[in-house]
Amino acid sequence: MAFKPLVFSGVQPTGNLHLGNYLGAIKRFVEMQATHDCIYCVVDLHAITVWQDPVELKKQIREVTAAFLAAGIDPKAHIVFNQSRVVEHAELAWVFNCVARMGWLNRMTQFKEKAGKDRENASVGLFAYPTLMAADILVYRATHVPVGEDQKQHLELARDIAQKFNNDFSAAIAANGHDPEDGFFPLPEPLTQGPAPRVMSLRDGTKKMSKSDPSDYSRIGLTDDADAIAQKIRKARTDPDALPSELEGLKDRPEADNLVTIYAALADTSRAAVLKEFGGSQFSTFKPALADLAVSALSPVSTRMRELMADTAYIDGVLKDGGERATAIARPVMDQVKDIVGFLR
Ligand code: TYM
Repeated sequence: MAFKPLVFSGVQPTGNLHLGNYLGAIKRFVEMQATHDCIYCVVDLHAITVWQDPVELKKQIREVTAAFLAAGIDPKAHIVFNQSRVVEHAELAWVFNCVARMGWLNRMTQFKEKAGKDRENASVGLFAYPTLMAADILVYRATHVPVGEDQKQHLELARDIAQKFNNDFSAAIAANGHDPEDGFFPLPEPLTQGPAPRVMSLRDGTKKMSKSDPSDYSRIGLTDDADAIAQKIRKARTDPDALPSELEGLKDRPEADNLVTIYAALADTSRAAVLKEFGGSQFSTFKPALADLAVSALSPVSTRMRELMADTAYIDGVLKDGGERATAIARPVMDQVKDIVGFLR
């Protein structure tokens, strides 16, 4: 039996959702609904790997949910829920903690970045973060994972964990009636080939746009109003040259490249097409055009987000319903994992 295609992805409710999250992930989540069954998760267990204010966390879980729905994710046709509702994520993560090796996790660049110099003081959860992420995906035996480029290394680790589990337990997997050729878990594929897999900071074209950048001018927030968007784009760092007419001309011009990439992704076109239109233009012409485009693409999303945020009962209902439907898939998978590993149930 080959694995049935299934999409899973997650977003952390850690505040400051930005254009990178939208173009690299959420917009692609929306597109994938047309061709796949999709499960989209607000990963609150991941959020608490660094301290979160409990009152804010609740608000931020609802905010990410509202962003999913406002962007066009259909919670009836697909599944939207928050991770902590489905206990099987944490359950499978524990098994994976015993499959993954310290050496594998030690190589994770995100841990190194987030833990910074004071590694001794990082939470154990932050170190084990990628095993939980593997569990998120594999507890549904999901096959496709749309993510931004920064998550690629974590996806490779998820594949390694799936592979090692399949190898370590191959006899038990066969004894429990699964095709030993396939193994029990699929090797999930990262889908990072969208138009903007790595949106960069507006202040520094060599750094990714990030929730944790201290400068609010580095990112366009999903709830920014039209004035804020226009101002941030106007102030975005650029070089003094006009835009080139060919892609080749963006080489070594990270800020120009980033703004052109953002324009192309928002307009659903290619970077080459953007350069065809704006090649030879100065940023004084291009930036207002980009600001108009960003406002017209984002304002329906932020307006809808605000409306949804005001209706917490509706949001909470979506998450509860999604949680129940997610559990219905995850529970039998976890039961089989228990049988394979050798637990009595
Ligand atoms: P998170 O919450 O940091 O980001 C959510 C999604 O947004 C993408 N992203 C970007 N894409 C392009 N340019 C950027 N500057 C940019 N910044 C962020 C991220 O790649 C991500 O797709 N570990 C994940 C959440 C997670 C998950 C999962 C994802 C937990 N379990 C299982 C997939 C499958 C994270 O921290 O994403």
